[in-house]
Amino acid sequence: MSNVVWHQTTINQGDRKKFLNQKPFVLWFTGLSASGKSTIANIVEQKLFKMKYKTYLLDGDNVRHGLNSDLGFDEESRVENIRRIGEVAKLFNDSGLIVLTAFISPFISDRTLVRKLFEKGNFLEVFIDSSLEVCEKRDPKGMYKKARNGEIKNFTGISSPYEVPKNPEIHLLNNDAKLEELSNQIINFLIENEYIEERKF
Ligand code: ADX
Repeated sequence: MSNVVWHQTTINQGDRKKFLNQKPFVLWFTGLSASGKSTIANIVEQKLFKMKYKTYLLDGDNVRHGLNSDLGFDEESRVENIRRIGEVAKLFNDSGLIVLTAFISPFISDRTLVRKLFEKGNFLEVFIDSSLEVCEKRDPKGMYKKARNGEIKNFTGISSPYEVPKNPEIHLLNNDAKLEELSNQIINFLIENEYIEERKF
């Protein structure tokens, strides 16, 4: 990239923040498949939307149908998956949006790299902590069963590792919890730490 120079746009993030009347940040959900990442992220997005915040949710299963449809689940592909999502989240954030992402993102090193793309405090790691046993019982898409039978290679938790976050901003146990309550905990964290303000409509 040595022959490419960053072009400074006239309209910057500060202008967009004022225009949208919000502080952009990213809620980075991580956890095992079937831990509840997508479902909780979806509820949180609805709550933010109702409060008139401008958001965008990037979800693993969806992004893998488009932008990342060329990637598999070997280690190299997962690293590239998360790198691209990190960059997209950064662009959306720069556009002033509050971004929610729901990817297994199993490796600490990748999550750390993404964190570094954001200004300090703007990257919030949300660990949805469901045990492998519970996720395997839920198995909504029958994937754990297939992985156990050897029909899916490199399956997170079975034949590929999941590295637990060491210091997530938000850590939610979800073995037997109410998703509505967990979502409210996230909203309360955001209000208490002044990422958003309480708005009732
Ligand atoms: S990540 O590990 O690269 O972050 P990502 O969140 O994008 O994963 O995709 C995970 C989704 O892909 C799972 O919810 C599951 O539906 C599906 N999937 C297919 N193969 C695998 C696999 N080998 N390991 C984990 N998830 C898989």
